[in-house]
Amino acid sequence: MVMVSASPLSSQQPAYKPGLPREQVAERFGIEPAEIAKLGSAENPFGPSPKAQAAIETGKTKIDLYPEWSSRLLREAIGKRFGFDPECVACGAGETEVISLVIRAFSRPGDPILMYEPCFPIYHIFAENEGRVPVYVRMGQDFDLVVDQYIARLNETKPKIAFITNPHSPSGKLMAEADIRRICEAAGDGTLIVLDEAYIHFTETPGGIELTRDHRNLIVLRTFSKAFGLAGLRLGFGIAANKDLITPLMNLKPTWNLGAMQTAGGIAAIEDDEHVARTVKMIVEMRAYVTEQLAGLNSFRMVPGSRSNFFLLEVVDQSLNSTDVFQGLLKRGVIVKDGSDSFRGLGDRYLRVDVSLKKNMDRLVWALKDLSAAQG
Ligand SMILES: Cc1ncc(COP(=O)(O)O)c(C=O)c1O
Repeated sequence: MVMVSASPLSSQQPAYKPGLPREQVAERFGIEPAEIAKLGSAENPFGPSPKAQAAIETGKTKIDLYPEWSSRLLREAIGKRFGFDPECVACGAGETEVISLVIRAFSRPGDPILMYEPCFPIYHIFAENEGRVPVYVRMGQDFDLVVDQYIARLNETKPKIAFITNPHSPSGKLMAEADIRRICEAAGDGTLIVLDEAYIHFTETPGGIELTRDHRNLIVLRTFSKAFGLAGLRLGFGIAANKDLITPLMNLKPTWNLGAMQTAGGIAAIEDDEHVARTVKMIVEMRAYVTEQLAGLNSFRMVPGSRSNFFLLEVVDQSLNSTDVFQGLLKRGVIVKDGSDSFRGLGDRYLRVDVSLKKNMDRLVWALKDLSAAQG
């Protein structure tokens, strides 16, 4: 008898480790959920775009019908926003789905895929799930994006796909536009450059969508989960002036991958500049605030230079590692990401911490001080 079994590739892969939910920590430590500072998933503490929320209510009235399979209206709205045809846009259930489609559409089993180490784990998890081979570029001092080294690895390994996250996760460092252009040119026709701009709003720069007009091997990916506050809606997109990069994604995607509520929410959100501007203003102010507050601590150091809505915190106190600090913060009602089990290659001296509302930043700083005092 033939037994059904999982593919050896998929069964070997540990799943992505997301930031912990508030309720789980509240129950375990007896803390009011509202008091918990949730700083592990880089969500928007202001919540969803109100315009998107209203549109989702309207979308609800259509859930008895199959949605239009290509999300045409959403692709039109995104295209219009950036001055592109709808055929230049492909949408997915989160940017995560678009990443999986890109890997499947533009590489084959055994092909190398280039990325920094550490990076957003979904790149190597999905690559390995599909039998592709992640190849890594080490980062410089304080996680600097050493672009010459990236280009050297590109020339050496000739990957089919090369990921850049801008600003980078987990460091928050921003790569200059000139460097992205340099990478696209060095890569040539044989490598697809995937520029992941999940957090681009927080850098207060326009990002690289326009660069796709000059570089036919470049696709830009974005999400509605961060600045738009719609992580639970599951919506993201890929955009490129070169339509040949988009058609394979449309052909490969699960037919009805987005429902009526997702497309309605996305169309409203992409136009909601007010919600995004309010969010970005708060993040930029709080990034400066928490930088100042953490400068006074001896046991911890903020890795400088983040342009995102999170930063890396280094554990300077040698008697503690990142897991000790992660657990110590949890007990005190602060959820962050433990670098040692959230990011391959990051090691056990770092945590990724979100920038958030002042009350959450104050709780973080209090908890870190309290943790140090309990140590000493
Ligand atoms: C760098 C990066 N890219 C993409 C995503 C995925 O976003 P989505 O929620 O749209 O799947 C994340 C989510 O945390 C991320 O950190």
